[in-house]
Amino acid sequence: MAFSSPAPSSCSLAVSTLSCILLLLLGSSDAQLSTNFYSKTCPNVFTTVKSQVQAAINKEARMGASLLRLFFHDCFVNGCDGSILLDDTSTFTGEKNAVPNKNSARGFDVVDNIKSAVENVCPGVVSCADLLAITARDSVAILGGPSWNVKLGRRDAKTASQSAANNGIPPPTSNLNNLISFFQNVGLSTRDMVALSGSHTIGQARCTSFRARIYNETNLDSSLAQTRQSNCPRTAGSGDNNLAPLDLQSPTKFDNNYYKNLLQNRGLLHSDQQLFNGGSTDSLVRTYGSNPSTFNSDFTAAMIKMGDIKPLTGSSGEIRKNCRKTN
Ligand code: HEM
Repeated sequence: MAFSSPAPSSCSLAVSTLSCILLLLLGSSDAQLSTNFYSKTCPNVFTTVKSQVQAAINKEARMGASLLRLFFHDCFVNGCDGSILLDDTSTFTGEKNAVPNKNSARGFDVVDNIKSAVENVCPGVVSCADLLAITARDSVAILGGPSWNVKLGRRDAKTASQSAANNGIPPPTSNLNNLISFFQNVGLSTRDMVALSGSHTIGQARCTSFRARIYNETNLDSSLAQTRQSNCPRTAGSGDNNLAPLDLQSPTKFDNNYYKNLLQNRGLLHSDQQLFNGGSTDSLVRTYGSNPSTFNSDFTAAMIKMGDIKPLTGSSGEIRKNCRKTN
């Protein structure tokens, strides 16, 4: 941690010089993120990003979901450092072909467009990691969800890790305890996990992600099972990439229908229905299902927390010119 960074505010009230020095030395992982990070160096970053996100969503509403998911898959793998955006090369293996991302993570062209628009107004200033954070916020807001002030100042990784992506992103086969520990591993609570899962109110999943559930599981509404079976054949390898909406009611609207679905055994993924299956998170699902404003405020707080996961700051990492490769 750089000594030039602002002292934690508790230093002004420091109980002892020693505790203040300790705080300075340890810092907190997001010590240097702030909502006004680019106010002098790139005052137009927000309007520039938003118009690009709006254009992409106008073209395809699902893109908002895909962009939100990119931020999640970035932050859960060695922190919010833009590592997911690096392309594989003959000498470099990145995260794009890790199991949770391959044939699934999308929106990279849109991120390229956002990056070049921002490079046009302030070259070499805004990191790809921060662009993912702003883009996730704008996507949610444009699709009708809450908005929040995004903390900025992340820098871009010079490396990526396919194995960390394979091990750190929860698979749809997870049970409740697995889900809780995946989130706990990055410092997020069970409440954060349930709130962030509300992201599945938008977007699509491939047949391969829900096949086992629609043919084998009993805690699934039978008419939904039948509908989903009609476009997701039982045999593995056939129709694997056929899509179905995660929220059957309003897949391009960010609302609390995800939880209402769970209350009726209409979660599409095995992992979704785990949040309402007789366990410790049932009551929270009921709360979010009946109280959209509680969901919105918990979701917002959890997004900010997720954005604080292990950012590179100070002189660590770099500001990439092109999000697909290191400088
Ligand atoms: C709780 C654990 C989670 C699991 C097991 C999970 C799993 C999945 C799976 C399997 C898909 C479908 C991928 C495919 O079939 O190609 C998906 C889609 C999606 N996930 Fe999650 N996810 C989780 C949490 C989250 C979180 C925390 C966010 C965002 C903050 C998120 C946002 C999304 C979005 C928006 C989509 C749709 C993407 C699109 O349409 O392109 N998910 N998720």
